Parts: sequence; structure tokens; C-alpha cells
Amino acid sequence: MARNTNFDGKSRTFSRNIYGTTKGQIRLRVLARDLAEWLPSGNQPLRILDAGGGFGPVSQRLAAEGHSVVLCDLSAEMLDEARTQVAEKDLTEQFDFIHGPIQSLTEADIGRFDLILCHAVLEWVEDQAGLLATLNALLRPGGHLSLMYYNRDGLLYHSLVKGNFDYVHANLVRKRRQKLTPGWPCRPADVDDWLHKLGFVINGRSGVRVFHDYMSNVHGPFPTEEALIEMELTHSRIEPFMHLGRYMHVLAQKNDQTVMPAQAGTQG
Ligand SMILES: C[S@@+](CC[C@H](N)C(=O)[O-])C[C@H]1O[C@@H](n2cnc3c(N)ncnc32)[C@H](O)[C@@H]1O
Repeated sequence: MARNTNFDGKSRTFSRNIYGTTKGQIRLRVLARDLAEWLPSGNQPLRILDAGGGFGPVSQRLAAEGHSVVLCDLSAEMLDEARTQVAEKDLTEQFDFIHGPIQSLTEADIGRFDLILCHAVLEWVEDQAGLLATLNALLRPGGHLSLMYYNRDGLLYHSLVKGNFDYVHANLVRKRRQKLTPGWPCRPADVDDWLHKLGFVINGRSGVRVFHDYMSNVHGPFPTEEALIEMELTHSRIEPFMHLGRYMHVLAQKNDQTVMPAQAGTQG
């Protein structure tokens, strides 16, 4: 059976190391800007699935705008924290929580969604193409997938500039697993290929942390967090910097035909 990664036992480290730092602020600002710019504007509340949603930092913001959210996660610890945060923000009415693997969700059980968020989950799952196929089946035709994944190319470049050549020679496989190092970093070309085979059209693409993690020997005073985030936003969609991002964010739109692409060739 293909492996998943449950965040029970990792949730505090994750919260502290990511959302307690500039790394988390860059992530949230790039995602917020991208979703605001790329999703079609409309007055209808959206039905949103936060797949592997953790505490739901992005879905909480969307719920506050009036949308409804189903948040699914393998980790009871992450879900407990999500419930606490959602209650504190008075958003409980807009949230449903599912404790279990995304791969077990079916349209028959929970219906289809206008928008699926899947942020920083793909790299923790062994069968990545299979996970994307599950998400595709849960989207309505014309719906959107906001997919953010750990970029193997960014990991390789980071290892090179840090002189970590043993790790490069080991094909980026660590001798000892580290708590917050994902097991299956993703190549953007592979992810694009899986999405295209499912019939998705990619409408937008950004890098997340395109230079922050490579900064060293800064001349003069270190930039303020706000100045740094602004520079990250500015360079996040410009090549070649975009593809050096430690994460990639893509907004992919599901084919709005009811015929699946694999079946299309068999139509008369
Ligand atoms: C790095 S955290 C990201 C959480 C959240 N999406 C965010 O961006 O803050 C990855 C989350 O995915 C969950 N996860 C990993 N594989 C999963 C699966 N197959 N089904 C459901 N949740 C999964 C983990 O338990 C963890 O909470």
C-alpha cells in the first residue's frame, strides 16, 4: 500500500518552524495574492475542500469571506488545533472536519467542490499521481485546484549553494529522516504532466521563497520582513527565480467537459 505521512507528533514543530517565522508569512502572502488574482470573482459562496488542510490557515481566511469549507486531515493533532482556531474566529458554522486520508474521499459521500486547496501535502504522499486523480474526481467541471508542493529543483539548488554535495550525490535521499523534510519532493515537470493527463489547464504559477532561503552574507542591515515579502512577491512569477522557489504554487482548472480526457478519444 502506498504511504502517507501523518503529522501527529510533528504539529508543534511545524507550527513553530513554518507559521512562527518569515517562511510562513511568505507562503501565506503568495497564496493570498495568487488566489485573489487568479480565481474568478463572483458573489456566490464557494464550496471548498482543504485537502490535508492542517490548521487550515488559508481556508480560515476564505471562510471569513463567506465560503464553506470541508477540511480533511490524517492527523488528529492538526485537526484539534484547526477546530480550536476556527472556534476562536467564530467560523465553526462554515467548517466540517474529516479525520482520515484524502484518498478515501468520494463524490458519493461528500459531493463535489468549486475549489480544492492542497498545500504542502503532495510531497508527503508516495502515490502523487493517484492523489491528484482523487482530487480531480472531487472537483466540479470548471472548478479550480490550488496546488502548492515542495519543489525538488529548489531543494537541489539549496543543497548546491550550501555545499551539501554528499546529499546531492545521494540523489537527495537523507540517511536519517528529519522531522519536517518531506519524503517525496516533486519535480515541476512531473506535476505538470500528471495535471495535463487529467485534463487540467494551468492558469497560474508562482514560486514560494524564491530567494529567502538562499540569503547569506547580507551587506548592511538585514531587510525588514515586509520588505523581504514584497521582494518575494515581485520575483515569484519571474523566470528563472520562480523555479528556484522552495515550493511551487499552481492554479489548475478542471476540464469543464463531462467526458474524461482518457475517454475522449473513444467518442464517435
Ligand atoms: C505540511 S502540512 C500542511 C498543512 C496545510 N495544508 C498548510 O499548508 O498549512 C501537511 C498536512 O497533510 C496531512 N496529510 C498528509 N498526507 C495526507 C493524506 N493522505 N490525507 C490527509 N491528510 C494528509 C498531514 O497530516 C499534515 O497535516
